[in-house]
Amino acid sequence: MENSIFKVLEELESQSNLEKNRRVDVAPNDRMLAITKETGELLNLMMRLYNAQNVLEIGMSTGYSTIWFAEALKENKKTGKIITIEQNPNKIRRAKENFEKAKVNEIIEIKEGLAMEILTELSLDTNYKEFFDFVFIDADKEKVIEYFDKILPMVSKGGLVVTDNMIYPEKYKEDMKKLSNHIRDNPNLKSITSPIGNGEEITLKIK
Ligand SMILES: C[S@@+](CC[C@H](N)C(=O)[O-])C[C@H]1O[C@@H](n2cnc3c(N)ncnc32)[C@H](O)[C@@H]1O
Repeated sequence: MENSIFKVLEELESQSNLEKNRRVDVAPNDRMLAITKETGELLNLMMRLYNAQNVLEIGMSTGYSTIWFAEALKENKKTGKIITIEQNPNKIRRAKENFEKAKVNEIIEIKEGLAMEILTELSLDTNYKEFFDFVFIDADKEKVIEYFDKILPMVSKGGLVVTDNMIYPEKYKEDMKKLSNHIRDNPNLKSITSPIGNGEEITLKIK
């Protein structure tokens, strides 16, 4: 891993741990709410294994997960790109700084605004039909099924959709159970719930 990426990931992990252990006082809107380090490592490994190229992320925050994805794309040494969505301008400013420090800014396009509006725009662009081979869903949980359905036609056959927070925190359990049932009702998908981190749904589009 390039040193610039390693250093930024390490800094963000320290900040995230301080926030999770309530050792710093951060306003709820400014909290990172980042994936765990193990989740980052797992997703990075998967992306390297199947040579992911075109990534879509819903819920960027300050860019911790995005940097793990960028590291895999750089390692895959092709022309891969990440589109990531975030609505909070303060987090976007912090993410931009992090991407520049990690030297991954050139392969990341930030779309600022509401996820559903941006996903609707992307889905109307025929260039994105079956385009993304890795999608990560990590925004507001009440809309997770709507996001999933909007995204699915933009995922390539053999592409993966990963959804965070399937197991923790408890307050999302009902929404995530509905998503899990929704995915399992679709014969074109194969899916497992991994207990890593906050629980990751790993869904393969087989048809
Ligand atoms: C759990 S955090 C993402 C953490 C990030 N994936 C990481 O691991 O570093 C969720 C983010 O989604 C953003 N978000 C929530 N609802 C959104 C919406 N409807 N449109 C765009 N962004 C949204 C929040 O502002 C927040 O920064």
